[in-house]
Amino acid sequence: MERTYVMIKPDGVQRNLVGEITSRLEKKGLKIVGLKMLQINRELAERHYEEHRGKSFFEPLVEYITSCPVVAMALEGKDAVGTVREMMGATNPLAAALGTIRGDFGMDIGRNIVHSSDSPESAARELNLFFAPGEIVEYRRALDSWIY
Ligand code: TYD
Ligand code: MG
Repeated sequence: MERTYVMIKPDGVQRNLVGEITSRLEKKGLKIVGLKMLQINRELAERHYEEHRGKSFFEPLVEYITSCPVVAMALEGKDAVGTVREMMGATNPLAAALGTIRGDFGMDIGRNIVHSSDSPESAARELNLFFAPGEIVEYRRALDSWIY
């Protein structure tokens, strides 16, 4: 089973979309194995987005992501990384398909509501940044054995 890192960004929390987003991911069949709210500090923000350091949007991105609390999630499932990327939609919400989280709820690339890892390698790195080992749990759901 693959794991991915998902984060409801400050605007998602401020707009009361935590339940809606979590519910979509859960109903799809993804299994929540880690979940918490936190306020990201600058150091963590810069490490999380280090691939974008030096780009024009880096500083506003760090300001935005540290501005208010976020909800961090570890999700598990078949092709979890690709599945959540599809459910999230394109980076720019105006280009994201309707039916995706960004397409349905966003209007601005700098306020695009949700983050998810772009590869299994990114997922491992980001889960390690945001969760201590004991904060990700392993458990079986009754339905795991016969229904997805
Ligand atoms: P990126 O990793 O390219 O997108 P994604 O979140 O879809 O993986 O960029 C990280 C975040 O940076 C993105 O969610 C929003 C912000 N961003 C901008 O504000 N302007 C831009 O032109 C880009 C490419 C990203
Ligand atoms: Mg990215």
